[in-house]
Amino acid sequence: MRFELSDIQQMLRDTCREFAARELTPNARRWDEEHHFPTEAVKQMAELGLLGIAVPEEWGGAGADYVGYAIAMEEISRGCASTGVIMSVNNSLYCDPVMKFGTDAQKERFLAPYARGEKLGCFGLTEPEAGSDAAAQKTVAVREGDEYVITGSKNWITNGPQADAIVLFTITDRSKGNKGITAFLVDLDAPGVTRAPPDRKLGITASGSCSLFFDQVRVPVAQRLGNEGDGFKVAMSTLDGGRIGIAAQALGIARAAYEEALAYSKERKTFDRPIANHQAIQFMLADMATELDAARLLVHRAAALKDAGVRHSAESSMAKLYASEMSHRVTHKAIQIHGGYGYSKEFDAERHYRDARITEIYEGTSEIQRIVISNALLKG
Ligand code: CAA
Repeated sequence: MRFELSDIQQMLRDTCREFAARELTPNARRWDEEHHFPTEAVKQMAELGLLGIAVPEEWGGAGADYVGYAIAMEEISRGCASTGVIMSVNNSLYCDPVMKFGTDAQKERFLAPYARGEKLGCFGLTEPEAGSDAAAQKTVAVREGDEYVITGSKNWITNGPQADAIVLFTITDRSKGNKGITAFLVDLDAPGVTRAPPDRKLGITASGSCSLFFDQVRVPVAQRLGNEGDGFKVAMSTLDGGRIGIAAQALGIARAAYEEALAYSKERKTFDRPIANHQAIQFMLADMATELDAARLLVHRAAALKDAGVRHSAESSMAKLYASEMSHRVTHKAIQIHGGYGYSKEFDAERHYRDARITEIYEGTSEIQRIVISNALLKG
């Protein structure tokens, strides 16, 4: 077992850390307050190859591995959690399934420009009445000759307001349950597609999400991703990778909160000494640092299994479950260490606390992660 990063992984970490410190951390509070989508930062990340990190170079990506992707996600999210999720959706929910299930013609058009970051992708699984129960889809795709006609709606679609294309899940045969679901690649400027205004949210307010409506949208058969009926497996195996990205995002948010609390504890004085000299604060810092390391080990293990081509559903869910709940605990303690200032918008502690909350919900709630883990345990 090796705990050191490879030279390439270290380089990726240093590049992302330096970029985040220079371009993200100084702007994140303002972007959050203004709900400003960080267009310029996303463009710079594209130039650094961060929009298709684990996509092979021949398809426009950086050709790194998934551990490298997790490392980059932690660093970018440490600077700005909103920017982190924009990056994770394009990398793991959009590029990854196109890479895995797409034909060469589909990769030419729907992967390469997205991995290069010239275009942005999103993932359409969730519906108003199909969140945790992902198989309860209502959006339908009806075949007519060499086209499908798609009608329905999707909601909470991260990158929805900005994206150029979507990996879209539909019902092609309702009688078959989860085996009647089919995935498509759909251009979001196709006739019949409309977008609702961006959602208003508790945290990650600089990332855009919205509902999308599909009214008799005609999609060529050549844009079907995988076979008819394979959609549920496309969605679930994609989420196995996506959950690693969200776990790494949670890790980045928690690290920002921890590092800021540590620095503050050395400056702020009570009872004539820095609060870092009080054991109550020291114990909180010790717990925060221990939990951060534990979460990182789980995240890197899941990513390494994905790199090895081994089924890693339970390990991804463990990483996401632990890292997201850890992030909640750590950001909570960071506010406590900052006292009243932690509750005020003069510091970033309150933003980290708000940003951490979604990581326990999207790409499967903590309860869904526990279902995936316990299913794996019981199957033995
Ligand atoms: N890889 C491949 N196949 C898989 C799989 C995986 N990870 N997980 C399940 N499958 C297959 C199973 O093998 C099974 O196939 P067979 O019938 O051939 O054996 C089939 O899929 C059905 O599996 P289950 O019986 O386990 O499915 P289920 O209906 O009981 O539910 C669930 C599974 C885990 C609850 C699932 O519905 C789930 O993960 N729900 C949460 C959905 C979710 O995460 N949504 C997030 C939306 S995306 C998002 O949030 C984006 C964003 O904003 C950032």
